[in-house]
Amino acid sequence: MAKQTKVSAADSGQEFYHPSKEVVKNATIKDYEKVYKRSIEDRDGFWADEAKKLDWFKKWNKVFDDSERPFFKWFVGGKTNIAHNAIDRHLKTWRRNKLAIIWEGEPGDVRTMSYHALNREVSKTANVLKSMGVQKGEIVTIYMPQIPELAITMLACAKIGAAHSVVYGGFSVEALADRIANAHSRVLVTADGGWRRGKVTDLKSIANEAMDRSPTIEVCITVKRTGHEVHMENDRDFWYHDLMALPIASPRCETEVMDSEDMLFILFTSGTTGKPKGLVHTHGGYSVYTASTHRNVFDVKDEDRWWCAADPGWITGHSYLVYAPLINGSTIMMYEGAPNHPYPNRWWNMIEKYGITILYTSPTAIRGLMRFGDQWPKRHDLSSLRLLGSVGEPINPEAWKWYHSVIGNNECPIMDTWWQTETGGFMITPLPVTPLKPGSATKPYFGVEAAIVDEKGNEVKPGEEGKLVIKNPTPGMARTIFGDPERYNETYWKEYEDKGWYKAGDSARIDEDGYIWVIGRIDDVIKVSGYRLGTAEVESALVSYPDVAEAAAIALPHELKGNAIHVYCILKAGIKGDSKMANEIKNHVSKEIGPIAKPEEVHFLESLPKTRSGKIMRRVLKARAMGVDEGDLSTLEE
Ligand code: PRX
Repeated sequence: MAKQTKVSAADSGQEFYHPSKEVVKNATIKDYEKVYKRSIEDRDGFWADEAKKLDWFKKWNKVFDDSERPFFKWFVGGKTNIAHNAIDRHLKTWRRNKLAIIWEGEPGDVRTMSYHALNREVSKTANVLKSMGVQKGEIVTIYMPQIPELAITMLACAKIGAAHSVVYGGFSVEALADRIANAHSRVLVTADGGWRRGKVTDLKSIANEAMDRSPTIEVCITVKRTGHEVHMENDRDFWYHDLMALPIASPRCETEVMDSEDMLFILFTSGTTGKPKGLVHTHGGYSVYTASTHRNVFDVKDEDRWWCAADPGWITGHSYLVYAPLINGSTIMMYEGAPNHPYPNRWWNMIEKYGITILYTSPTAIRGLMRFGDQWPKRHDLSSLRLLGSVGEPINPEAWKWYHSVIGNNECPIMDTWWQTETGGFMITPLPVTPLKPGSATKPYFGVEAAIVDEKGNEVKPGEEGKLVIKNPTPGMARTIFGDPERYNETYWKEYEDKGWYKAGDSARIDEDGYIWVIGRIDDVIKVSGYRLGTAEVESALVSYPDVAEAAAIALPHELKGNAIHVYCILKAGIKGDSKMANEIKNHVSKEIGPIAKPEEVHFLESLPKTRSGKIMRRVLKARAMGVDEGDLSTLEE
């Protein structure tokens, strides 16, 4: 059976990478068009069938309810719990003995856990949370490195009906304090630290500083990971291992019966204003959607070992590191540290060692590892791999081809999945049988109607750039912005209110073959190394530096990171900027938000281009920096 991918020319002159006979033979869904047609013509029927693949305490009365648009509801009246589907139901089958998690720490320590063992840890943690008074509906903030306790705590919250708000461990004091305040969290679960590039990241000190600014916090539970000295406060701080050793941490815990539409988690993401928005995801629709996309797009089989190399602090980690693969009964791989520590073969070594069959990662990670050369992956037997995935930003064809040939040995199709924190799961994506074009996320997933439209909302011609819209709600979409439903409506649905479309905030093209090519954000959101940041957040950190009066942040292309942040500062009267101050400003932003937000370059200016109403014209700064046409300047203030 042919294992290698065949390459042929498309009508458009581009290359098509066809799946090998072996891939087609093994694929569960062989006819995308047929299933897609059904999913659009009989949307409720399609989603009901997908939902039936999960367990429900009580079946729904109605698949879809749009009576309060844009606050759509799915599987109305259904009772379930994602933790039941991710763990409990497997315990009644042979999967109780199957590995749920293989985890490797950066120093090389390894932990593995069967579904049975995972259930014990989750139940014990759930009881610990209960003993701290955690109630159904309250939001627990989690701030941790990538260790099993992060996934365990998420699942423990879900099990007892509490919601979680995971704050990425790379964020710093201000970002953490803001998110705690926004979620009104009473309980914070953290760790003393984690390992990154051979060094300890001192999470507990950051958490302590953030808690000093957070009057809502009453309890902080700390997992001991690195063992370095940390400050613990009486009556507030508890060690996780101390609590887990008490009789209250019983390994038996009832899974709470939740309504389909009950909140599972909030996840903060950056938007166009300085205040990050907490998107709300629910138990029912999110379980169905993430499990469906994971099962079909990656054609998961029981023999698979699935590695989503994203941090659980981002939506990719929520949906495809933790929830969907566990619902589908997969064995998941988790790795704590840097991809090139101690050497650039770290990932390839782990793929060989654990026999990983599917790797799902970001273009930034691929470009980062590509730069060390082919010799590092070539030292390892990567033949266990059968599928690859990409997410977070457009993948450039050069990186795609390297990933395909060097990592995938020209045998593994690459699932380039386009989606967002807001959509919960994949929206535009190939299936293993889809002929691929390097750099295109190809076609909409089942039940999704995507279009590229012009300013007036008319579909653009093939090859033209336009705005990406989704024409219909899907079960995995966020239900609202926590505490701010108006902003939810305003941000995503208002622009196409009469049509009922969802505004993605991205620009894209569609080609003659109906393939979608996502270009990038068209709002004030920057994607740096695939991480999402708002220009407004960076600007607010900049003006909190004592000498900065006004500031603007823009994204400029960067070979490795996709985009890098460049900032423009107006200093307070009489102050002169120099390279020393530029460095201080960079470090200040990094301390306030986190290292991912550290500006690439700081420029000092006398004035910023603004509209007459006083809005900074970032696109003018960008055009100037790139030496391209500045476009329409009619609104520019003199
Ligand atoms: O611009 C798109 C880009 O990431 C944005 C969503 O970011 P976030 O909410 O952090 O979620 C990232 C993980 C799903 C999108 O608006 N993006 C995501 N995936 C792709 C992508 N751009 C191009 N191709 C992709 N596959």
